[in-house]
Amino acid sequence: MESPVALVTGANRGIGLEVARQLAGRGYLVYLAGRDAAAAREAAERLHAEGLAAEPLALDVTRPESARAARRAVEAAHGRLNALVNNAGVLLDEGVAGLEVPVETVHATYEVNVYGALRVTQAFAPLLIRARGNVVNVSSIMGQLASAGPGYLAYRSSKAALNMITRVLAAELAPRGVRVNAAHPGWIRTRMGGPAAPGTPEEGAKPIVWLATLGPDGPSGGFFGPGNQPLDW
Ligand SMILES: NC(=O)c1ccc[n+]([C@@H]2O[C@H](COP(=O)([O-])OP(=O)(O)OC[C@H]3O[C@@H](n4cnc5c(N)ncnc54)[C@H](OP(=O)(O)O)[C@@H]3O)[C@@H](O)[C@H]2O)c1
Repeated sequence: MESPVALVTGANRGIGLEVARQLAGRGYLVYLAGRDAAAAREAAERLHAEGLAAEPLALDVTRPESARAARRAVEAAHGRLNALVNNAGVLLDEGVAGLEVPVETVHATYEVNVYGALRVTQAFAPLLIRARGNVVNVSSIMGQLASAGPGYLAYRSSKAALNMITRVLAAELAPRGVRVNAAHPGWIRTRMGGPAAPGTPEEGAKPIVWLATLGPDGPSGGFFGPGNQPLDW
């Protein structure tokens, strides 16, 4: 039997690279997607050195043609996609009040965190339907409406929008056998999370990998955090 196929966006470093590593460790053939082709190649070489199967793939989630080209490459090689992890993300308004954040910053955040995830999911939907696969949107507790406070307006609202995209696409794709869930990795030590974060990328990847590898009876339209625990919206 052929290996299941996964694609992780923003997989050249941070949580995305660790998700790719854990999926490859479970026998997935992983497309390690990065907007910088050389960085994706280097990351794939790191996994090869660990004896894992990973294919580098150039994919800038803000560019429609890049998403279509990535879809064509995976379709030509496998004709299906068992797991899509929309991990690529940016945090551009650290330390800026919502009342002062330039709208351009909000727009640039949405380009990656919202439109990017939607664009890539739309591009790969036919391949995901063929595999009756899983979509994982890497969200954040910062996108939770119930606990929202001041600041991080661009980032928080982008993840809240991503959560709603998760719900709508989960409902639309349920009859086609595809599950769509949102994951909060925890506060994780990466370039985005910073050096003071308590969690490792290995820990942060766990709920994401669980959702990426769900079987047909797994949940859909949910928001899950560390320990695979359901979170309030
Ligand atoms: N770290 C945390 O504490 C934390 C907490 C909650 C949620 N998250 C979420 O977890 C995900 C991964 O975050 P991280 O902590 O691993 O951050 P990170 O280390 O900053 O990595 C972000 C990744 O996204 C990629 N990316 C940015 N713009 C892109 C684009 N246009 N196209 C393709 N890739 C793009 C980056 O690529 P380049 O290397 O080319 O920049 C990088 O690979 C994000 O969605 C983030 O919001 C993180």
